[in-house]
Amino acid sequence: MQNLHLAFLLLTSLCFGSLAFSFSQDQQDFNQAKNFEGSSNLVNLQYHMGPVLTSPINLYVIWYGHWNPAHQATIRDFLYSFSSPAPSPSVADWWRVVQLYTDQTGSNITSNIILKGEFFDWKYSHGTYLTRLSMQSIIKTALSSHPNALPLNYNNGLYLILTSSNVKVQEFCRAVCGFHYFTFPSIVGVTVPYAWVGYSGTQCPGMCAYPFAWPEYSGKPPPSGNGGNDLMKAPNGDAGVDGMISVIAHELAEVSSNPLVNAWYAGDDPTAPTEIADLCLGVYGTGAGGGFVGVVYKDSWGNGFNVNGVKGRKFLVQWVWNPVRRRCFGPNALD
Ligand SMILES: *[C@@H]1O[C@H](CO)[C@@H](O)[C@H](O)[C@H]1NC(C)=O
Repeated sequence: MQNLHLAFLLLTSLCFGSLAFSFSQDQQDFNQAKNFEGSSNLVNLQYHMGPVLTSPINLYVIWYGHWNPAHQATIRDFLYSFSSPAPSPSVADWWRVVQLYTDQTGSNITSNIILKGEFFDWKYSHGTYLTRLSMQSIIKTALSSHPNALPLNYNNGLYLILTSSNVKVQEFCRAVCGFHYFTFPSIVGVTVPYAWVGYSGTQCPGMCAYPFAWPEYSGKPPPSGNGGNDLMKAPNGDAGVDGMISVIAHELAEVSSNPLVNAWYAGDDPTAPTEIADLCLGVYGTGAGGGFVGVVYKDSWGNGFNVNGVKGRKFLVQWVWNPVRRRCFGPNALD
């Protein structure tokens, strides 16, 4: 679970698996990001003996609400990019850092993430204000609908709920941009891992679509990919979706390394674990810290990105903690 305190966009973690932010801590969080990029002494990431996702992951996406088809296409291509070839540095290269995490049998997290099914909950089956627990009911609805139900895959299923622009979610935009957890047998019938990420383009791009937007009222300059103060432009043309891509990546990394909240995390409190992506909030390239996102690339239109995907797509995804190098790392690293 990630708690990210997105301090002015930086995320640190707050709750169970959430991407959260806190304005009060921004400078501190930026400094931490810088420290994490360059050193390892402050981080006590530990393995707590639970399972990680070692079997090929069958991903099931639940589109909740009304979605723009172009936005769906961007997200789908991102998800297809995990296990498909693309020019280096690729999304699959980015995932290789996540694969470094193992369970107590020595098995690594899988290299396979396959988009296996999609469910379209366009009627807002549980309304437009959702709590954390509603996510499990939404999964239950998707599993029991007729005729297009998603399969209940308790061997290697991972359910990803994506909520549309007009859906309010408990703590969304206030404390979190996304979270992950697992279902309870009393609601869904079995325990399966899931994650939720909301489209923030209209509700709070400055918090959850970082670094393509930033909270202007924070009094701080916009995040920068080149050392200046120019706001980064979104590689797929929509700050909300391009920002969401990085939050999805964050949640997938954390749900895979801490699916039952008893595997890889730092800190003493399992109800507020700091997970492998929380440690690298706001870090997208070498030298990140202090409001600088790190060294990333620009496409021919000047949009920022750090990894390639299928169909010539480009994406910007935050780095995650590399347990071997003991620092935040990504495939676009210069060192
Ligand atoms: C599995 O994890 C170990 C420990 O981090 C690492 O040394 C090894 O390279 C990993 N294997 C793969 C295929 O990622």
